[in-house]
Amino acid sequence: MNVDIKIKDNFLPKELFEKVVKQSTTLEYSSKAIVSGYGDEKQHVFLSNLIKKNGNLIKEIEKSIKKHFNLEIENLHVAAFTCVSTKKATPHTDASLYPNEKHMIIYLHGDSNLNSGTGFYNLTDENVYDLNTAVGFFPNRAVIFNADECWHSPLIYTALDNSPRFSIIVWFQPKK
Ligand SMILES: [Fe+2]
Repeated sequence: MNVDIKIKDNFLPKELFEKVVKQSTTLEYSSKAIVSGYGDEKQHVFLSNLIKKNGNLIKEIEKSIKKHFNLEIENLHVAAFTCVSTKKATPHTDASLYPNEKHMIIYLHGDSNLNSGTGFYNLTDENVYDLNTAVGFFPNRAVIFNADECWHSPLIYTALDNSPRFSIIVWFQPKK
């Protein structure tokens, strides 16, 4: 794997961040619409609540993408609030809809006692994944990477129960 992960803390403006954190706790996470992998390997790794493609929230998020990562959205594949309570790592790649797709996660909130975040793996042999980089779940941190060539997984190491963590994901093709 060619590691290309960018991280930015204090990603959303404070007021907007607090608003979306509140919003994330009131949503219903029943959609299994977002899947990872290809063909028979398709699986959903989290429950989600989709964000409207032309809505205000995406426009606001795009401002932060531009400010911190110097990218603009050409085509939006999917945007959603997500809720993860997985304990076992599930390394996967995500099927791209557009060329050069970027995947971004904005960590919102979760139990602060959890050592959680996102793991990035090298696939060293068939079904052998070596953890290359672990990014910690820090509220209002954004992580951006190339999902189609990058094995990754939600990580929740020390959960004693199923307490979930909430994030926003945005999958998009950037403007050149
Ligand atoms: Fe993924």
